Amino acid sequence: MDTVEIPIRKDRVYIVGLGPGDVSLLTLKAYNIIKRVEVALYTGSLLSPKLVKLIKEHAKETYNTAEMSEEDIAKVLEEGYRRGRLTAWFHDGCPTIYGGLWGVIRRLKERGVPYEIVPGVPSFCAAAARVGLELTVQELSQTVIISRISKRTPMRDEERVRNFVGRGTIVLLLSIHAPELVVEELKAGGLSEDAPIVVVHRATWGEPVEKIIKCRLGELPEVVKRENIKGCAVIIVGPCTDEELIKTLPSSIVYSPDKHKYARSTVVEGH
Ligand SMILES: C[S@@+](CC[C@H](N)C(=O)[O-])C[C@H]1O[C@@H](n2cnc3c(N)ncnc32)[C@H](O)[C@@H]1O
Repeated sequence: MDTVEIPIRKDRVYIVGLGPGDVSLLTLKAYNIIKRVEVALYTGSLLSPKLVKLIKEHAKETYNTAEMSEEDIAKVLEEGYRRGRLTAWFHDGCPTIYGGLWGVIRRLKERGVPYEIVPGVPSFCAAAARVGLELTVQELSQTVIISRISKRTPMRDEERVRNFVGRGTIVLLLSIHAPELVVEELKAGGLSEDAPIVVVHRATWGEPVEKIIKCRLGELPEVVKRENIKGCAVIIVGPCTDEELIKTLPSSIVYSPDKHKYARSTVVEGH
């Protein structure tokens, strides 16, 4: 396969995930949209400088949505679309997670502006990859809970992080600004102060910005202060962060010798 056909169209606006920050982690579709974009909106406080530079090199008009209301964003998207310009709103990670999309989507629908969401590599997957771990662990954690701490953002009581402890791997976004609360919530759910956790700051942004810190739960507030971590970090909690435990795991069922025999024979039979 030498060429890949990637249709990019002006009969819609694009809401595009650009991944965690490394330009090489852009999807082909995202890259093609960037190359052709005319009106670009972007989540300025969260995108890596390299991604912002790339957008500014291509777009004629750029808007940082960190400083805009939902109404402003919807208006710029609509105007770009009505003027027949290729218009896109670029997000960090994948826009389908904490993308703040609903208010804008509602307005686009009300105004008859078609939109397409283009997914990107989510920050928590990139964070796990940078640490070199798999979030799911056979027999111990087949569930990944993506959540956050609520300081000012209203959140249902049922969704408090304390309710998820012991139910799978927990990845916390939008939480590093309140490390004491993170510790309080996880401890209230029954996690010990000694539990190993991992913090990944600006995953894939490269040195010296990216930081991968393995510590104990109780050390989190001190670590955040010492390492000067401000925003844009993922906290990973669960069996996958326990290096001693991982050493003792039995082999994966999926790749056990018996499974291979079985898989091979079914393929042959299938033919
Ligand atoms: C508004 S949310 C958007 C999440 C994004 N849509 C995603 O797919 O990850 C912003 C939060 O995502 C996390 N985040 C985004 N990019 C990150 C990165 N490169 N490294 C670590 N965390 C990141 C941080 O927790 C940050 O506070």
